[in-house]
Amino acid sequence: MVEQLRSMSGEPVERTLAALAAAAARPGAPADSRVQVVDVGGGSGTRAVPLALLGCAVTVVDSSVNALAILHRRAEDAGVAAAVTGIQADADRLDTVVAPGSADLVLCHHLLEQVDDPATVLDRVVGAVRPGGAVSVLVAGRLGAVVSQTLVGRFEQARQVLQDGDGRNGPADPLRRRWDVDTVTALLTAAGLTVQSVTGVGVLAGLVSGAARQAAPGGEAELAALEAAASVHPELLRIAADLHVVARRPA
Ligand SMILES: C[S@@+](CC[C@H](N)C(=O)[O-])C[C@H]1O[C@@H](n2cnc3c(N)ncnc32)[C@H](O)[C@@H]1O
Repeated sequence: MVEQLRSMSGEPVERTLAALAAAAARPGAPADSRVQVVDVGGGSGTRAVPLALLGCAVTVVDSSVNALAILHRRAEDAGVAAAVTGIQADADRLDTVVAPGSADLVLCHHLLEQVDDPATVLDRVVGAVRPGGAVSVLVAGRLGAVVSQTLVGRFEQARQVLQDGDGRNGPADPLRRRWDVDTVTALLTAAGLTVQSVTGVGVLAGLVSGAARQAAPGGEAELAALEAAASVHPELLRIAADLHVVARRPA
């Protein structure tokens, strides 16, 4: 399984998850001993199924019956139904459906923007991961939203996102909050996690117009290289559309 995981390609978040799962795999362990992944708010399985295909056992905990139905179909179609378990539960009750300290890796992607109390959810996430295990958190970035709203002429909304305490553009904003590098790092640290890396997802590539792409034929590879450099640039990554944080529960 380790070799299979190391050879995985794909977009950056997928590659990071594969590397985390590979690092959790115990060389020489029995063939049926799988890396245990919990995907909280994992929805329809866009992360769960690729990880199951790599040999992980994945439990998706999601409040939506519809999302879990799609997850089961997707897992069956991919031939990994036996490795994917869907559980309908609220994230703040994760401790009632996942054994404490049982997960090698917990994903919490685009969930903290929606829940009542992010600190409670993170407390449950920390309880589910084993000591030394990894946590992958993906959240919407506040500054990325300011830039993207500005570029489409929504100046008032951009200013609201910038100035609002939760990074919202008003009561109709579908997200309850957005994050800065400092605020999401502080949240994870307060939960008892050690932050290992913060990466920007969609720093520059999403800002490039179709006209600019056409004006630079063959420039896609250059743009991808630029995006890869920007995603880890300590100042530039702050304007990413999404912030990806990898953290560990202290051993
Ligand atoms: C924006 S989707 C993200 C799905 C997936 N994690 C991803 O990144 O593609 C949010 C998911 O969280 C689920 N969700 C929202 N609030 C939840 C809660 N309080 N407890 C558990 N799941 C929740 C939704 O049903 C949905 O599937």
